[in-house]
Amino acid sequence: MEKLIINGGNKLYGEVDISGAKNAAVAIIPAAIMASDKKCIIDNIPDIEDVHCLERILKSLGCNVIKEKNTIEIDSTNLTNTNACTEDVRRMRASYYFIGALLGRFGKARVDLPGGCPIGVRPIDQHIKGFEALGADVVIEHGAVIIKADKLVGTKIFFDVVSVGATINVMLAATLAEGVTVLENVAKEPHVVDVANFLNSMGANVKGAGTDVIKIFGVKKLKGCNYSVIPDQIEAGTYMIATSACGGEVTIKNIIPKHLESMSAKLMETGVKIIPNGDSIKVISSGNLKGVNVKTLPYPGFPTDIQQPMTALLCVAKGRSIVNESIWENRFKHVDELKKMGAAVKVEGKTAIVDGVQKLTGAVVKATDLRAGAAMVIAALMAFGTSEVEGIEHIDRGYPHIEDKFKMLGADIKRVKK
Ligand code: EPU
Repeated sequence: MEKLIINGGNKLYGEVDISGAKNAAVAIIPAAIMASDKKCIIDNIPDIEDVHCLERILKSLGCNVIKEKNTIEIDSTNLTNTNACTEDVRRMRASYYFIGALLGRFGKARVDLPGGCPIGVRPIDQHIKGFEALGADVVIEHGAVIIKADKLVGTKIFFDVVSVGATINVMLAATLAEGVTVLENVAKEPHVVDVANFLNSMGANVKGAGTDVIKIFGVKKLKGCNYSVIPDQIEAGTYMIATSACGGEVTIKNIIPKHLESMSAKLMETGVKIIPNGDSIKVISSGNLKGVNVKTLPYPGFPTDIQQPMTALLCVAKGRSIVNESIWENRFKHVDELKKMGAAVKVEGKTAIVDGVQKLTGAVVKATDLRAGAAMVIAALMAFGTSEVEGIEHIDRGYPHIEDKFKMLGADIKRVKK
């Protein structure tokens, strides 16, 4: 077990490179097994535990996998195994993409139900509704999804809720269905577009990703390709918020400014200066911020995945801020930890009422999930005194080398064995 020791109070200065997007990579890697001809070579893969977990799942299925720095080579041409039932599958959320990928390629799969961050009920009914509409039979037995189809046939599917996972998963299977599939009320996140672009590089014919309607013209087979994952908008947002909260001047490199617009707009409302410049963005902050109201929404709205870091920042912003979490019903576990540092936050259902305090003070706190972990690191970086952040295995699932990146910006942070 490891933890982070952080001496707060340093302003942040310098440059930070943003890695490839976790939520794109964790879909693209399972999608790569749909290539029955030639291997996939995928670049800008983030060095995070969720990716390591997927590598192990690919190997357990029988794929040849070579990982070198930020590039992963996946050769699944000889793949025949359609059973993904391991501890790693049960541990992470994105393993559900093996259902769509295996169903598309082989017409069948047995995949253990996924795990992931404890941020609320996380059903997969919309994924199943989509697979069934394509012609698959689905049963859930002994904790696994068992799915089978004589053939998949394109159809029109209207999702009841906007779901990133269901949009991507059904899109995967539909690329190899017969005829045309129309997906309506879909998620428009940049990673949905990235997965569609990856599928098209493999020979699929997917149109409209990034809008409310995705049209998929089924093809007979997919082949390997070379691809590079988009930058992580949430990692970028995390460093933007940290700089805003601590004060300082940081250039955040290797990003797509368009993907950060809702976060940039909100941070500017708090009084921070944001200057986009090509594929980087400069954040300049005095550290004296004013409170704002935030409501999380599907893209292009303010991302739920940045709500927890933003709540940490608002703890020291002047006045009252109201944070409304509209995607997940249990994403305020970080609030109890923030209170240990002197924050004045009250949670009522899906709303947090934050009254800004002069300063936070260092404490022993816990990362209860991935983004709660980022919130704790930010709170500790701006707090007076020393903090210990425990539960950092959650942080390692989604943030590559977080302590090294913050150290480069002048933070006093180190990882130690517990
Ligand atoms: N939902 C359903 N039925 C479904 C699927 C979703 O009711 O079949 C509901 C959920 O309960 C939730 C809403 O729809 O209220 C949105 O869920 P979505 O399916 O979009 O979430 P997800 O695919 O499980 C991904 C990310 C999450 C991120 C959400 C929302 C991955 C692996 N995970 O989850 O990322 O919060 O989209 O943007 O892509 C994170 O990175 O920290 C993280 C939790």
